This record gives sequence, structure tokens and C-alpha cells, in this order.
Amino acid sequence: MKKVFIKTYGCQMNVYDSERMLDALAEQGFTPTSTMEDAELVVLNTCHIREKAAEKVYSELGRVRAIKTVRAKMGKQTVVTVAGCVAQAEGEEMLARAPVVDLVIGPQAYHRLPELAAAVRTEGRGRVETEFPVEGKFDHLPAPGKKRLQSRGASAFLTIQEGCDKFCTFCVVPYTRGVEFSRPVDAITAEAEALVGAGVKEITLLGQNVNAYHGLGPDGRDWGLGQLLYHLARIDGLIRLRYTTSHPRDVDDEIIAAHRDLGQVMPYLHLPVQSGSDRILAVMNRGHSAGDYLRIVDRIRAARPDLALSSDFIVGFPGETEDDFAATMALVRDVTFAQAYSFKYSPRPGTPAASMDAAVQEDVKSTRLAELQALLKSQQDRFNGAMTGRVLPVLFERTGRQNGQITGRSPYLQAVHVNGPETLLGQIADVEILTAGSNSLKGSLPSPRLEAAAVPQLAKAQTH
Ligand code: SAH
Ligand code: SF4
Ligand code: F3S
Repeated sequence: MKKVFIKTYGCQMNVYDSERMLDALAEQGFTPTSTMEDAELVVLNTCHIREKAAEKVYSELGRVRAIKTVRAKMGKQTVVTVAGCVAQAEGEEMLARAPVVDLVIGPQAYHRLPELAAAVRTEGRGRVETEFPVEGKFDHLPAPGKKRLQSRGASAFLTIQEGCDKFCTFCVVPYTRGVEFSRPVDAITAEAEALVGAGVKEITLLGQNVNAYHGLGPDGRDWGLGQLLYHLARIDGLIRLRYTTSHPRDVDDEIIAAHRDLGQVMPYLHLPVQSGSDRILAVMNRGHSAGDYLRIVDRIRAARPDLALSSDFIVGFPGETEDDFAATMALVRDVTFAQAYSFKYSPRPGTPAASMDAAVQEDVKSTRLAELQALLKSQQDRFNGAMTGRVLPVLFERTGRQNGQITGRSPYLQAVHVNGPETLLGQIADVEILTAGSNSLKGSLPSPRLEAAAVPQLAKAQTH
């Protein structure tokens, strides 16, 4: 059996892409291994979003080189592949900078990975595939076989849209993922049905701008994300739907209605805002103001009052003043987030912001980031703390770190740990929340004697 080792960096789309690469390689007789030493094929699926993310691949390549050398001494060949957004951004340069690399393949060419890896084996190193080919990779990637489907677990990702035409001035994604592209509704439905058939209970629809989705519907018209959500909610056995990442500009009435009408659509939304300053938002080319963002949040919360919000923030964008930063803090206080990611601005090669004047000093960035993160953490703690005493439906996904513990996710995407039987893995069960930490909740499964008493509470929780 040929073995492939794959390491994934960056966003959920890379996680999904890695699965699809493994699907394609499975057809060629490859099985995945978590031990690089055993692998004929090594794939690093990389991220270019910030400098730190992009540099990780070069330190990992040091480890790969050592293993490749040892394997070569034993007469074993290793094909080293760099995939993902660093591959797309650096292309040929990677081969020169890291001689251990045999193959560089961009995100739009993954359907060609098996063939290109085979060509390296017979013809030697030095292949680069970073064109955006005319033929869509999704039309050519093989559907996962039964065994591969079963490895997806209880919760799976499904890419419905890829690429971005928005060109925020700080961001590399439009350059690494190409123009916005939406998959047809029928292809998405077939993939979702196959996943559910294999035991998946929760699907997270993915796109760089997932709510800009406009795929070909079975009626020959373009469908939006809202319409797609209603359609997928009809799949028997698909209990939870999520989608990420949304852009504030593309939140429309039908998506809001789906949050109101569909029990399957989880009350959780990741809606990046980046900054609370209108001036900075304009220079970032976000295409909305802080006020627009607040109005959108109000509209979704009116439809789904228990909606938990998450966001992304950048501090220290070129020209950001104390007043601009204060506006970001004010927006956070206004909205109240259940969870958030925040970053120091990192200049990226080829993006407009990288050549803007008035760079913010590193120590100022650090101070602002710490202040913002303290506020966001206090909001997250309060949100999690408010769960104690409640009964939440939890989708159990894996065994916990401690013996006898199993771990799953609440509707609000919180990690929930309980002591419980492994037979609950892949199932949804009600959990009474006992304690809350910053990043997870602990709870207990109602004992059979208490079950009757828990029923009215459960009914209340579900009518939210
Ligand atoms: N498509 C999503 C974001 C994708 S990138 C959106 O439109 O919101 C994920 C996050 O990384 C961004 O939301 C942003 O907060 C952060 N990010 C992107 N480029 C960055 C940069 N150059 N420096 C720091 N953070 C950045
Ligand atoms: Fe990047 Fe902006 Fe596109 Fe998001 S919308 S992927 S931040 S360019
Ligand atoms: Fe990173 Fe590419 Fe995702 S740059 S965040 S892996 S789209």
C-alpha cells in the first residue's frame, strides 16, 4: 500500500481540500498515514494569509528534508509536494528556495495531484502547477468512496464557493484562490446526501465569501445561499447546517429568513468586520461602514434572537490612529461577540496595503491587540458563563483527553465535555451545562431518573 502524509495549515477550506486530495489519491491506491517517515508522498497544504502562517511551511520543510534523506539512504523515494496558498503565491520561487520540494501545486489544480506526483516519481522533481485552469477542479475530483466518506465523522465541511472578487487591500486571498466561483446546487446536494448517508449529522458550507454564493440551480436560475439552505434542510438526517465565512455586504433577506425559519441552521454566525472605524474600513476597501455592520447584526438578531456572533479583527492597519482603534473597541462593546479572532496587521506581498504609508509600529500593534483581546475574552467568558444551568443539544464528535470523556459541540459552536459512553459519538444528546471555561463547557448527561424532569427545560431551549 502506498502511503501519503498530509499536513494542513490555515482555514477550513484547506481542511476540506486536504480531504478531497486524499479522495483523489485513494483512487490511486494511497492510504493516509500520520507518520511522515512512512510516506512515499508528503503534502504540505499551506496558508499565506499572514507572514507567520506563510513561514511555517519553511520550518516544516526542514523536518521533511531530514526524513527524505533518511528514506533515500534506505532506497525509498519521497515525493514532497507543497500545495495551498503559499504554493499559489510563490510558485517557481519555492523550488529555488527549498530544493527538497518536488512539486508545487495551487488550490485550483488538485484534481491533477495524482498524475503530477506520479510524473515526479518517474521523471524527477521540479513541477509547478499554479495556472487557474479552465476546467473546474470540482468537475474532475473523484467523489469520495465509501471508506473515505466514513472517515469524515459526525461533522463535515463542504465547499460550495471558492475565490474572491472583493480585493480588501490587506488580503492575499483573491490572488491565491482566484475569482469567485460557485458550485452548482445539484453537485452540492449530491455531496451533502452522500455525507449524510455515511453518518454525517452536521455540514458546514464553506466559501471565502460563502454568502456571495450564486450557483446554478436545478431550475436553470442562479440560487443564493438562502435558497440553498432551504433546499439542503430537506435532506433527511441532516440535523445541523452552518456556513462560513460570510461577508457583511452579502447578508441578504433570504439568508436572514433561513436563520428565522430553519431549525437546522445553527444560531451562530462568523461575520468578520475587521475594524470599527469608517475611515479604516474605507481604506481596507471593505465596502461597508461600522453602522452598516451594526444594522445587519440587528436584522439577523431580530430574526434569531439567540444568535451568537463571531468575528475577525485586524489592528494596526496602516494609518490606524488611537481614535480609529477606539472605534473598534466601541463596536465590540456595541455588538457583544461570543467568540472572535484578532490579528496584528501583516503586510503581504503584492497587496495594495503593503505599499501604504503610515505603518503602525509593532509595539503599538501589540498594545492594541492585547487591549482588544482582553475585551473580547471578557465577552466570551460572559457568553460561556451564561450557559451554566442550561440544557444544550450537543453533537458528540470524539473521545476527550480524559478517560471516559467525550467531546462535542453546542449549537453555538462551544466545545462541550461530558463523561459519557462512546456509543454517543456521532449522535446528538442533551447535556446539562455545569461549568464554563473560556474555551469550553463541562456538563453531564441527564441520568435516566432525571430525564422526565429535563424534558420541559429541553423544550424551552429548542424554541429559541
Ligand atoms: N473572507 C473572509 C476572510 C478570510 S481571511 C472575509 O472576508 O472576512 C481570515 C482573516 O484573516 C480575515 O478576516 C482577517 O481578519 C485576517 N487577515 C487577512 N489578511 C490579513 C493581513 N494581511 N494581516 C492580518 N490579518 C489578516
Ligand atoms: Fe480577503 Fe476581503 Fe476577500 Fe475576505 S472579502 S477573502 S478579507 S479580499
Ligand atoms: Fe490561508 Fe489560503 Fe485559507 S491564505 S486562510 S489557506 S484561503
